[in-house]
Amino acid sequence: MGVLELVSLLLLPLLWATCNAIHEDFLQCMTIHCRGCIDTSKYIHTPTSPSYTSLLQSSQQNPRWLNSTTSKPLLIITPYKESQIQASIICTKKHGLQTRVRSGGHDYEGLSYLSNTPFAIIDLINLRSISIDIEAETAWVQSGATIGELYYSIANKSGVHGFPAGLCPSVGIGGHFSGGGFGTMLRKYGLAADNVVDAYLVDVHGRLLDRETMGEDLFWAIRGGGGASFGIIVSWKIKLVRVPPIVTVFNIDKKLHQEEQGGGATMTKLVHRWQHIAHKLPEDLFIRIVIQVVDDGESQGGSQNKAIKASFNSLFLGRIDELIPAMNKSFPQLGLQAENCTEMTWIESVLYFAGYPIGQPLDALLNRTTQYKSYFKAKSDFVTQPIPQSGLQGIWERLLQENIAFMIMDPYGGKMNNILKFELPFPHRKGNLYNTQYLVKWEGDDGVRARNKHIHWIRSLYRYMRQFVSRSPRAAYLNYRDLDLGINQQGNTTNYSQAKVWGRKYFKDNFKRLARVKTKVDPKNFFRNEQSIPLLPAMKRKVI
Ligand SMILES: Cc1cc2nc3c(=O)[nH]c(=O)nc-3n(C[C@H](O)[C@H](O)[C@H](O)COP(=O)(O)OP(=O)(O)OC[C@H]3O[C@@H](n4cnc5c(N)ncnc54)[C@H](O)[C@@H]3O)c2cc1C
Ligand SMILES: *[C@@H]1O[C@H](CO)[C@@H](O)[C@H](O)[C@H]1NC(C)=O
Ligand SMILES: *[C@@H]1O[C@H](CO)[C@@H](O)[C@H](O)[C@H]1NC(C)=O
Ligand SMILES: *[C@@H]1O[C@H](CO)[C@@H](O)[C@H](O)[C@H]1NC(C)=O
Ligand SMILES: *[C@@H]1O[C@H](CO)[C@@H](O)[C@H](O)[C@H]1NC(C)=O
Ligand SMILES: *[C@@H]1O[C@H](CO)[C@@H](O)[C@H](O)[C@H]1NC(C)=O
Ligand SMILES: *[C@@H]1O[C@H](CO)[C@@H](O)[C@H](O)[C@H]1NC(C)=O
Ligand SMILES: *[C@@H]1O[C@H](CO)[C@@H](O)[C@H](O)[C@H]1NC(C)=O
Repeated sequence: MGVLELVSLLLLPLLWATCNAIHEDFLQCMTIHCRGCIDTSKYIHTPTSPSYTSLLQSSQQNPRWLNSTTSKPLLIITPYKESQIQASIICTKKHGLQTRVRSGGHDYEGLSYLSNTPFAIIDLINLRSISIDIEAETAWVQSGATIGELYYSIANKSGVHGFPAGLCPSVGIGGHFSGGGFGTMLRKYGLAADNVVDAYLVDVHGRLLDRETMGEDLFWAIRGGGGASFGIIVSWKIKLVRVPPIVTVFNIDKKLHQEEQGGGATMTKLVHRWQHIAHKLPEDLFIRIVIQVVDDGESQGGSQNKAIKASFNSLFLGRIDELIPAMNKSFPQLGLQAENCTEMTWIESVLYFAGYPIGQPLDALLNRTTQYKSYFKAKSDFVTQPIPQSGLQGIWERLLQENIAFMIMDPYGGKMNNILKFELPFPHRKGNLYNTQYLVKWEGDDGVRARNKHIHWIRSLYRYMRQFVSRSPRAAYLNYRDLDLGINQQGNTTNYSQAKVWGRKYFKDNFKRLARVKTKVDPKNFFRNEQSIPLLPAMKRKVI
């Protein structure tokens, strides 16, 4: 047992004992500060409430993080209205409780529901209304909704509108939009955050602000800088985008058998070629690659063989008869034929990319339980120069050391090239060929030693990748959060120069502006976590 775990075990009884006292005062505080807050038992849950455990577990997507040694929140608050969030901020602040906000709970490092200091979770599960205005081509969506619910609601109103956000339907709007958010339409329409035109946020003083009252600096910061450093975003106004009534999808699998390692197999050549092509294709054409370790049957000696599979997985915003000549022109090596393609509606393509079989009823998008819940660790990179074939072979060798490991390559270019690096905090624009994500998963919690083995493995892959990826800084995507990049020290002070190391990876030159906004809107650093934006050091503050 580590020192930290020991400390939290010793602290636990103390926290339980003070819990009831805090609870009483807290309820009183809530009713003083808010007229609509009386029915507190409906939305304030303590460790003794019957709903507490299931709520805590409900939307966490990576069970790595909730175990017997984790310190648990003193309160879980599930507000139904803005006024309850406003009062919660005032009262958690008054009681010295740190606040973690959770929308969909997909944070890779569990930051929306974990903390080492006494804390409360504000879980937006009950704030998930979506209202679509097809005539204006806009929508208001609350942070607690999922992107699956958003896609479903849009498709319910129109067959020719959509929204460019991520692939996994259970991802929450709150974390996803505030960290950027991208999926199959990013080459045509950019990030989810690029398509946000207004928002409501509760700030550290408990004020409810919209774009006009929060000002352009703060509105800039919450579209890619991570919401958790600045306040609680309640809802977002988005621009819907146009999609054709029929789109086309395909998936071409290429396999590399273990014995072909180093043989210059077709799979490696195609992946290599893709790096030169995918970012230059027409904006309507998105082809990503998912590389994974697969079981290749038994070898002669009776042991399991493994292989590497590369899936070229594509959405085309058009029909097969336009796609085939376009592919024949730009990527003939893949040998795509009409028979490999399927036409469907855009919303059906959403289900397809979520991994559902063709014909799956649309209401699967409303299922908030992810199919992907598992123990995992992930890291990300941006690639600006094609990786040589020998480099790719080195990746395959490393992937084969694990049983469930992935590398996902998402092509950039198109619209992403036309948005300036400082327009939003998300700086990974022109010059990037693709984003890559490495993921290792394991079944069940097979003990600390086994877990450490997987984590060592992914760190070692990450070290290997250094020679091939962006540098100065080596960039990373905030929504694929990785605490290996660095963390803030505990407490309400933050060390700017320390945070700059990881901050520049996520935000490059936008990091300083984020710190300036942070210092202005939350000068006591109430909204903080292991990777929240730090305050500017005192000597730099005069400039704001
Ligand atoms: C299975 C899976 C698939 C994914 N697929 C994609 C993908 O296709 N594309 C992509 O871009 N990303 C993808 N992601 C990453 C995802 O975008 C991020 O994990 C995102 O931050 C999740 O948002 P959430 O609301 O579900 O998470 P949460 O854990 O609830 O929140 C994440 C962070 O945002 C903060 N936050 C949440 N809500 C608010 C709010 N209302 N106001 C202020 N701060 C808030 C939290 O405190 C936390 O720091 C995927 C993740 C998973 C687990
Ligand atoms: C339990 O969760 C904590 C995070 O709160 C994590 O650091 C620790 O590794 C987890 N333990 C196990 C055995 O998974
Ligand atoms: C939209 O949703 C309503 C209510 O659930 C349903 O009755 C209707 O059939 C849906 N329409 C479309 C076009 O999906
Ligand atoms: C693509 O279609 C052709 C022609 O029908 C077929 O031979 C080939 O196996 C298909 N490829 C894939 C990956 O499905
Ligand atoms: C692909 O293009 C070549 C010449 O550029 C042409 O001969 C061939 O018929 C095309 N194939 C398809 C399937 O369009
Ligand atoms: C929701 O998805 C989960 C995980 O895929 C599945 O186990 C469950 O049955 C689904 N629920 C419904 C109502 O379809
Ligand atoms: C902040 O971190 C830097 C680099 O680690 C260190 O040199 C400096 O002393 C720290 N400053 C404070 C005030 O802790
Ligand atoms: C930081 O926290 C300490 C106690 O936790 C408190 O005394 C101090 O005033 C806080 N500082 C700021 C700037 O809020």
